[in-house]
Amino acid sequence: MNQEEQLVGVIDAGTRTVKFCVFVSQHNKEIAEYAIDLEPITPQEGWSEQDPLKILEAVKLCMHKVVDILGPKKAKTIRTIGITNQRETTIVWDKTTAKPLYNAIVWNDIRTDSTVDVILAKIPENNKNHFKSICGLPISPYFSAFKLKWLIHHVPAVRKAIKDKKCLFGTVDTWILWNLTGGSNNGKHLTDVTNASRTFLMNIETLYWDAQLCSTFKIPQNILPDIRSSSEIYGKVSQGWPLTDVTISGILGNQQSALLGQSCFKEGMAKNTYRSGCFLLYNTGTSRVQSSHGLVTTVAYKLGENPAIYALEGSVAVAGAAMKWLRDNMGFIKNIDEETESMAKEVFSTGDVYFVPAFKGLYAPYWRKDARGIICGLTAFSTKQHIIRAALEAVCFQTRDILEAMNQDCGIPLTKLHVDGIMTTNNLLMQLQADISGIPVIRAHSQDITALGVAMAAGMAKGVEIWDMNSEERELVPIDTFLPTSTEDERDTRYTKWKMAVQRSLGWVS
Ligand code: G3P
Repeated sequence: MNQEEQLVGVIDAGTRTVKFCVFVSQHNKEIAEYAIDLEPITPQEGWSEQDPLKILEAVKLCMHKVVDILGPKKAKTIRTIGITNQRETTIVWDKTTAKPLYNAIVWNDIRTDSTVDVILAKIPENNKNHFKSICGLPISPYFSAFKLKWLIHHVPAVRKAIKDKKCLFGTVDTWILWNLTGGSNNGKHLTDVTNASRTFLMNIETLYWDAQLCSTFKIPQNILPDIRSSSEIYGKVSQGWPLTDVTISGILGNQQSALLGQSCFKEGMAKNTYRSGCFLLYNTGTSRVQSSHGLVTTVAYKLGENPAIYALEGSVAVAGAAMKWLRDNMGFIKNIDEETESMAKEVFSTGDVYFVPAFKGLYAPYWRKDARGIICGLTAFSTKQHIIRAALEAVCFQTRDILEAMNQDCGIPLTKLHVDGIMTTNNLLMQLQADISGIPVIRAHSQDITALGVAMAAGMAKGVEIWDMNSEERELVPIDTFLPTSTEDERDTRYTKWKMAVQRSLGWVS
């Protein structure tokens, strides 16, 4: 490392894994990382929780390990830290004891179905898009306000803490930041615009909490964190943590962070991240495009005093999670990374089998909480290989659903798709995606894209340049391109069948 090089640390708190990693100025690669998988808690069908204290423990251990890897001298050159996180996941805690009042309710938890129905019942024509012009989002159990309302309604300790003015709410970024900066001893209770834009409580125009939405959900505003930009100095790491006194200067929801990490700085650029879910974000610049085709309007990033940049997002709840289901529930595979591709390749097609993995309803563009998973087209000839291949294709068809909606909303069809995330190491998936969507799929070599985005944002606030956001260097990043090999007729015939399968999955739960 030469004299001028400086380091930026990143806490990447995803749904499955927490990691701490370090980037060096002028490079887009991590130089050290340590990751720990989180234990999911599933108390009931459809519920998904995490222990907030275990998230903190994992963050602390990962930071310690990376300091050990770097050695104390090099670790001292970490100038600043960014936080990127699973979004929407909801945590409430007592600000005097620093104890969580309940487990974190994870973004894909669907216990709030009835909370959604209560809100919908009060809305003219039960229109799920009623608040879209205010917050950019449709009414769905996905977003934090529904989870927070459930917590206030069902957990007496939460109600008491609110009454005693001791309750704080936060998404995972806020929980980590508050604890990292001192916790009950003056910890900073803040979030950034990207995370706030996923709560259903922020007005996407003013970028402040919206009084009408807070009153609809009966949420007292004094439990909500202050909303800040994604790149500014929020505070310093407090005593008791590794890297004490290092500043924290970047926060981005993980999908928005991947958008920056993919260098999608310009209007019209888009990326798709394939992990447990699948999230396609399309940069719309300073315009807030209101989707008429089931996409959500979200804040992409706001770097310091610069104006907020917006995105259209297509969120898919189940992508890699379907592979996990095939492994854990069906026993079809033992190792997802090693076997999924090879087994799916043992057959030349799905044999006309379609798999809609709507385990917890369908997100974009359908927003149907009454949908459930379905595998159709089975014959006596069908094997587990066909079903594994159909699960991979389901990821691609769901992405095509989003692309169709995006093209209609934006008017200019996307001509290529930049992709990242752990599932993109599967070459067959990438080829199927190109064949099903009919556009080239461009895969970044780096697996560090999500963390890279917030490293750039954090570095920017401290004058450390990780990646020149004004250059055209994106073209220099090594990539693989997968070109479509299907005809338009083939694509459309198969897509029509997919839509038929989706229709059969809707309305399963009343
Ligand atoms: O909106 C949910 C999303 O942020 C989850 O991301 O990759 O941690 O599952 P991931």
